[in-house]
Amino acid sequence: MSENIFNHLLTSDSLFKNREVLHHGFIPENLPHRDKEIESLVHNLVEALHGQIPSNMILYGQPGLGKTAATRHVCQQLLARGKELGRTIHTVEVNCCTVDTKYRVLAQLANDLVEDSSKHVPFTGWPTDKVFDRLRENMDSLGGVHIFVLDEIDHLVKRHGDDILYPLTSLNYELRNSRCCIIGITNDLQFTDLLDARIASRLGSEDVAFSPYNAQQIEDILEHRAHAGIREGVLSEGVIKLCSALAAQEHGDARRALDLLRVAVHKADIKGANSVSTEHVRLAQNQLQFDQMTPVISSLPFHQKLVLYSILLNETNGLTNVSTGEIYSVYQMACHNASVTPLVSRSIGNVVKNLDSLGLVTTKTTSLGRYGRSNRINSCIPSNINPIPIMLEADEGMKPVINAAYRLQSRL
Ligand SMILES: Nc1ncnc2c1ncn2[C@@H]1O[C@H](COP(=O)(O)OP(=O)(O)O)[C@@H](O)[C@H]1O
Ligand SMILES: [Mg+2]
Repeated sequence: MSENIFNHLLTSDSLFKNREVLHHGFIPENLPHRDKEIESLVHNLVEALHGQIPSNMILYGQPGLGKTAATRHVCQQLLARGKELGRTIHTVEVNCCTVDTKYRVLAQLANDLVEDSSKHVPFTGWPTDKVFDRLRENMDSLGGVHIFVLDEIDHLVKRHGDDILYPLTSLNYELRNSRCCIIGITNDLQFTDLLDARIASRLGSEDVAFSPYNAQQIEDILEHRAHAGIREGVLSEGVIKLCSALAAQEHGDARRALDLLRVAVHKADIKGANSVSTEHVRLAQNQLQFDQMTPVISSLPFHQKLVLYSILLNETNGLTNVSTGEIYSVYQMACHNASVTPLVSRSIGNVVKNLDSLGLVTTKTTSLGRYGRSNRINSCIPSNINPIPIMLEADEGMKPVINAAYRLQSRL
């Protein structure tokens, strides 16, 4: 029999020493440049070691700024110190993006506190009051201080409102034998605007804002992780600098930097290279942009695809800085080719606004003096990504639209 197809990869020398370390789920022992934020958490949570109730907290900051990592790190240390001091402390972390209903969040908090799965709250079906009763029972029967971390809490509130947060932040009034502290983590800087004022003041008694990393700070972070995850001496000059600079341009996002570095090393591995070059980082950047953009383009509703297509078609025809009127006339032809009825012309503005908020087009408004205002619209999809095959793949209906011939106007 021929050799197993996995063998060559198992035996080949990878440039990774420990790939896991470069994954963004990994919690490093050190979190450079987050001392201030960690100190704020520690200052508050130390109360649990004194047997007191720490204040509820909200941690803010854009994605990739170390909020989840810092919180996990602090919770781990808190549990370890609590154990040494004989303090009963429990932490439960729920990611409200993956556990995305109020019921399931409560059920997970309750279930995490009991090992015996026959005593678990079922997946669905109980009235909320009953789940709350069970949660309180479980908390009291363990005793001590419970720290509940609700990560990406903005997702839950945006989808289902803030009404579980009121009873959750009231638990301390009803618990008999235990205490509770809630830490909400949010990527949305305007999160408290979504909350009822009473809940906002209860939850956000302590706020910690995580600021973006600059390129130098990301470099430090990558150096630490690269040392543990990548073989000595295989990164060429400039690789870490480029990953850091690209990630700093985004919004100082350490997750992006780690992804770039990990994918760059992987690209080098696949090509059988014995070192990682800045060229591999560029390939990684293209790949990540592609992975990010593709689902955004694929999942556009059909008419939004048609509007995007109309903008792209104008651009191929040399017509940039187009107005909604210019888009509309091409869009009407596209609708004709798709055999669908066009939306009314005034809804095109909203479609363009949505494409803009998804980062697919940019809109600049210019004043025409007494003739009002006009929008100048351009696509801004990175040049290495071709949206046409993506739309075609996602939607059968785009086929006649893309295959048709158009009589396009140009500006004289
Ligand atoms: N200061 C830091 N030092 C080391 N790694 C970091 C640091 N900040 C963020 N990271 C890493 O970047 C990735 C994203 O961080 P994460 O905590 O998930 O961000 P957030 O929760 O703010 O979106 C994780 O892999 C994390 O380990
Ligand atoms: Mg996070």
